Amino acid sequence: MKALFIALTGGLSLAQMAPALADNLNGKNLFTQRCAVCHGADIKASGPLAHKSSPPTPDLTTAAFRKRLSDYPGVIVSSVVLRPNGSLIPRTLRENGVKIPPHAWSIDDLRDLNQYMVGVISKSR
Ligand code: HEC
Repeated sequence: MKALFIALTGGLSLAQMAPALADNLNGKNLFTQRCAVCHGADIKASGPLAHKSSPPTPDLTTAAFRKRLSDYPGVIVSSVVLRPNGSLIPRTLRENGVKIPPHAWSIDDLRDLNQYMVGVISKSR
C-alpha cells in the first residue's frame, strides 16, 4: 500500500512538473518572438530595434524597474494588454520593416510571459 502511495504521488509530481516546463518554454517563445527585437534576450534593451524608437527601449533589469515591478506586479502584463505607449511599438516595427504577426493572447500566455520575464529579470545583475 505504501509503495502504491509513493508510486501515485511520484507520478503526480512528475505530471505537475511537465506543464511547468512547458509554461516556461511558452513564455520564452512569446518573449523571443514578440519582445526581444527591442528588449533583447537579456531584457537589457539589447535588441536590434532598441534605439530605433523614441523614447528608446528601457533596460528592464535596472534597480528602478525592479522596484516598479515590486510596487506594481502587473506592469508586464499591462504593457501587453493596455498598450500604454499607444502606437509606439507598431510604428517602430513598421518603420523598420519588422513584421510580428498578431497574437490572440490567452490568460496562460500572459502568465507564462510574465513568469519568464520576472525570472530573467530576477536572475540578471
Ligand atoms: C518596437 C520595440 C518594442 C517591442 C517589440 C516591445 N517593446 Fe516594450 N518597450 C519599448 C519601449 C520603447 C518602451 C518604453 C516606452 C515608454 O517609455 O513609453 C517599452 C517599455 C516596456 C515596459 C516597461 C513599462 C513600464 O511602464 O515601465 C515593459 C514591461 C515592456 N515594454 C514589455 C514588453 C513586452 C512584454 C513586449 C512583448 C510582448 C514588448 N515590451 C515589446 C519597446 C518595445
